[in-house]
Amino acid sequence: MTILRKVLVNKQVSCKSVWFMRQAGRYLPEFRKIRSSNTNFINLCLNSNLSSEITMQPIHRYDLDAAIIFSDILMVPYALGQNVEFIKDEGPKLDKFSLEKFLDNNEKDFTDKLSPVYEAISKTRSKLNKDKTLISFIGAPWTLLIYMLSLNKDKSSNQGQVEKKDITLILQILNNYLSLHIKNQIDAGADIVQIFDSWSGLLEKQHLNKFCYEPNYKLVNFCREKKIPVICFPKGINENYKNFNNIVKPDGINIDPMLEPNWCKKNLKNVVIQGGLDPKILLKSEKEITDAATKYIETFRDIPYIFNLGHGLLPETDPDNVEKLIKHYRNFK
Ligand code: CP3
Repeated sequence: MTILRKVLVNKQVSCKSVWFMRQAGRYLPEFRKIRSSNTNFINLCLNSNLSSEITMQPIHRYDLDAAIIFSDILMVPYALGQNVEFIKDEGPKLDKFSLEKFLDNNEKDFTDKLSPVYEAISKTRSKLNKDKTLISFIGAPWTLLIYMLSLNKDKSSNQGQVEKKDITLILQILNNYLSLHIKNQIDAGADIVQIFDSWSGLLEKQHLNKFCYEPNYKLVNFCREKKIPVICFPKGINENYKNFNNIVKPDGINIDPMLEPNWCKKNLKNVVIQGGLDPKILLKSEKEITDAATKYIETFRDIPYIFNLGHGLLPETDPDNVEKLIKHYRNFK
């Protein structure tokens, strides 16, 4: 059994476990080297040899318990026919959403288009030690919708063209393809799933049920049927984390830096807590880093906990600070 599963499934308290969101990425010179000659990010994700190599980069460098497959949550809209571009310093840019085109998809084409991602998972699984976890992931339907309709940018751009009644249909169809993407990733060798709902914090409380809890619940149940542990990350929903956890019931929940670790310990029950530490702290001095980390490690020392961050590693992070943080966690008694 992999170390993360010992914590997530067997709830082992004595078992230390650590990995970082965005551990494969721009803060690593070895990633930037590959990226500089692969200017199209989607094509890089679809190059199974390179994406497997990038997935392994942080594993070669650090004492981590899990690799997360190098891909992106936006590979799903891409596979559903929406062109995705990554413009430097601007973030992702998607083609205008077309409902007609969206409804014209089928499962076979979807799986075919993403087959390099699945190949990268099998390749990586064969390179990884047996005790290390290979994490696969998806974006939650609401978060994907935000990008697909460009709701994070110009409010007038796409929003007006999609009617309210269609939103329900789009979310439902997304849920089906996301389940298929989870299944394909498990079949290829992934042994944990993480669901990123990065934009759930935009939802007003009265909309959380329909747009956040319900879709996450369906996907968590799908993972449970497939007997694969699942970690949810409903970023930015503050005290609603408690409701989320009670309704969705994932195996693990990633907390964000807005939440107090002690509040989490008291209010998030029957779940394994992961992460929390603000990635910005890694831009500071060693003392500030280890002090901030100690707060999380001490608070969660007597319950099962996966050490991680409250958001992805920032591109400007010094890789040596990541090393120091891992050493601090490993040596903590
Ligand atoms: O190491 C890992 O964590 C695995 C790979 C991974 C990437 N994206 C690679 C990536 C994962 C798990 C993601 C998830 C992801 N992608 C999320 C959810 C987590 C979060 O950050 O909230 C979201 C919202 C996206 C969408 C996305 N992809 C954005 C907004 C951007 C541009 C800005 C940014 O944060 O980098 C990306 C691009 C992206 N995805 C890069 C990487 C390494 C940078 C690409 C580059 O080199 O320019």
